[in-house]
Amino acid sequence: MRFRMKEMCETFKCAELPMYKPEDFERMITNHRIQEVIVCSMDSTHDEYIVRALHAGCNVTTEKPMTTDAAKCRRIMDAVKATGKRVRVAFNYRWSAANTKVKEIIQSGAIGRIRHVSMEYALDTAHGADYFRRWHSHKSMSGGLLVHKSTHHFDLINWWTDSIPEQVFAYGDLVYYGEENALRRGDDAWTKYPRYTGTNSLGDPFRMDLTAHAGTKGLYFDAEQETGYLRDQNVFRKGIDIEDSMSVTVKYRNGMMLSYCLNAYSPIEGMRVVFHGERGRIDFAHFGGSHLILGQSDADLAKMQESNKGFEELVVSPHFKPRQYLEIPRAKGGHGGGDPELAKRIFMHTPPADPFGRNAGHEQGAASIMVGIAANISIAQNKPVNISELVAINPSAQTLQELV
Ligand SMILES: NC(=O)c1ccc[n+]([C@@H]2O[C@H](COP(=O)([O-])OP(=O)(O)OC[C@H]3O[C@@H](n4cnc5c(N)ncnc54)[C@H](O)[C@@H]3O)[C@@H](O)[C@H]2O)c1
Repeated sequence: MRFRMKEMCETFKCAELPMYKPEDFERMITNHRIQEVIVCSMDSTHDEYIVRALHAGCNVTTEKPMTTDAAKCRRIMDAVKATGKRVRVAFNYRWSAANTKVKEIIQSGAIGRIRHVSMEYALDTAHGADYFRRWHSHKSMSGGLLVHKSTHHFDLINWWTDSIPEQVFAYGDLVYYGEENALRRGDDAWTKYPRYTGTNSLGDPFRMDLTAHAGTKGLYFDAEQETGYLRDQNVFRKGIDIEDSMSVTVKYRNGMMLSYCLNAYSPIEGMRVVFHGERGRIDFAHFGGSHLILGQSDADLAKMQESNKGFEELVVSPHFKPRQYLEIPRAKGGHGGGDPELAKRIFMHTPPADPFGRNAGHEQGAASIMVGIAANISIAQNKPVNISELVAINPSAQTLQELV
């Protein structure tokens, strides 16, 4: 925190702002007459700050996932009802130029009513592996990747198709990361140290040296004594309790079906989505060629990026009409241009109306996380799980637009 404060004061040539400990949260809100709280702490702590902020009279913008389990979700829904305040979930993926284009095509009716969607999402051995180095590798802190990561994907499906999920069945397993898997494959050498920084891990493609960059050093390494937060634990250690390979089937209130899979140890990163409509089909895919390995030299990285270019397609195939091969639009900024667009929305006094309905409140936040939360229960109990038996999300609504 102090590292970021120093950086901000240097950038904006301003004086330091007061900082508060978690127990002084309400005092901070009162002292500074705060109206809106932005929650971006570890996932399993979101509910605490959301509920406390609402009861202190604030509106809230929270990072995804809104929270990590059904009881916490109900707590947030109850607090919104009791206080009349507003919660917004920062689904930046909705705001990317490419994802907005897909929404525009579906909204135009180009393929009619959508009856089935399949989505494959791949996380690579850099980004995907990173979830296994830190708190995300514990379900109690992140909800696992089906909540932490897939909340973006389940939200995209809900929003693209204007649907509300109802029944979920899932399988999941840890098949690549973790000590046992590395030993089974004969990758024993990668299991020999508890963390990467300051240990004899040179040459390990999963190595991450926190002291190699001013940001990771200042934010994480220098703060370890105070926070106890180790950002670079070995991805092939014991004790990881989330899945890296997942398969989920979902039935929606409007009868639509989804087949979804997520794998976190892929050599490429990206997604492939197929929408089956009553009047045609859309194929949408984009895969990055990054294959970044954090332990590589810059020269190796440049070579790797050159030889691993990404690939993409956006094809609309209406029934009985010519196929259209469309260009995927690009925009500047993080997450395909989604981050700056969402930030504009959050900080604008009077944002213009959005024809694509990209703002999401607590009910739409719940409609996304509850797929992952129900999937976690389904994996544990080996049975289909009904979301409405866990959380009541406006039971009479049939379309996502009807949810706040
Ligand atoms: N929308 C996106 O694309 C996107 C991308 C990355 C992260 N995120 C979200 O942003 C949030 C932060 O992720 P990150 O990658 O920056 O993680 P991080 O580990 O770098 O930061 C989490 C912070 O929470 C703090 N924290 C932990 N327990 C806390 C508590 N009880 N009270 C207050 N603070 C606490 C930690 O000290 C740390 O500073 C997460 O919710 C994550 O899901 C969203």
